[in-house]
Amino acid sequence: MDSKNIVLNVNGIEVIYNHVILVLKGVSLQVPEGGIVAILGGNGAGKTTTLRAISNLLKGERGEVTKGTIELRGERIENLSPADLVKRGVVQVMEGRHCFAHLTIEENLLTGSYTRTSKGEIAANLEKVYNYFPRLKTRRTSQAAYTSGGEQQMCAIGRAIMANPSIVLLDEPSMGLAPQIVEEVFNIVQDLNKKEKVTFVLAEQNTNMALKYSDYGYIMESGRIVMDGAADYLASNEDVKEFYLGVGGGERKSFKDVKSYKRRKRWLA
Ligand SMILES: Nc1ncnc2c1ncn2[C@@H]1O[C@H](COP(=O)(O)OP(=O)(O)OP(=O)(O)O)[C@@H](O)[C@H]1O
Ligand SMILES: [Mg+2]
Repeated sequence: MDSKNIVLNVNGIEVIYNHVILVLKGVSLQVPEGGIVAILGGNGAGKTTTLRAISNLLKGERGEVTKGTIELRGERIENLSPADLVKRGVVQVMEGRHCFAHLTIEENLLTGSYTRTSKGEIAANLEKVYNYFPRLKTRRTSQAAYTSGGEQQMCAIGRAIMANPSIVLLDEPSMGLAPQIVEEVFNIVQDLNKKEKVTFVLAEQNTNMALKYSDYGYIMESGRIVMDGAADYLASNEDVKEFYLGVGGGERKSFKDVKSYKRRKRWLA
């Protein structure tokens, strides 16, 4: 990765919850401008915590970054409020979508422009979102509670786009959605990336789908990055396939165990 193009640089961060529980144990990752970077790993690996550390949304969870630095275009951002980060173009889409159930799709989208004041700009952003998500346009007057899971995920991403972001942090966009809808959502993400130059960082348990749509991936386990590489490299890597893509079968142990087991096998061969 060309270091000149790094827009987000997470350097050795530790995160502690409730003053005692060490959850991130020195996580480093780099996000290039205009890239789609996936953070992969199973339940509790630390993906959400990593995204929340970047967007400074840990406080509500009684979490804090106790070591390391996070830089946006070379500038430290650990102490900026979530609203300041939104103004600088960093917007997070939370796990579980979090649309306001009693608001319509359009009202939900408009809540995403709270950092914007120009009516013209807000209207233009709304048109832009409808252009990328035609489904949302047809559902604009529906209450979010009565829309499908896919539409709610689209609404959550659309709301982020309303803030004119340069980086969107997407937490488990595929969660609970049928494969076809996941593809639809990821295709739009890719479109926004290409045409609007939005950089994406996505946390995903769905390794297969995430690697299909991203350029680079980091695999997390127990609060550490255990492997990283170009998406096509990871997708074809034997250890990743065996452990995360369900090829090879067998009991799932730790990724680290799979790797050392393989190494041992190689030594013995
Ligand atoms: N508010 C919290 N207080 C204490 N521990 C927490 C809190 N939130 C998360 N954790 C713990 O931190 C670890 C990492 O959780 P995190 O939610 O970041 O993982 P994840 O990779 O996003 O998992 P999932 O795929 O299930 O969403 C887990 O062990 C979890 O139990
Ligand atoms: Mg999570």
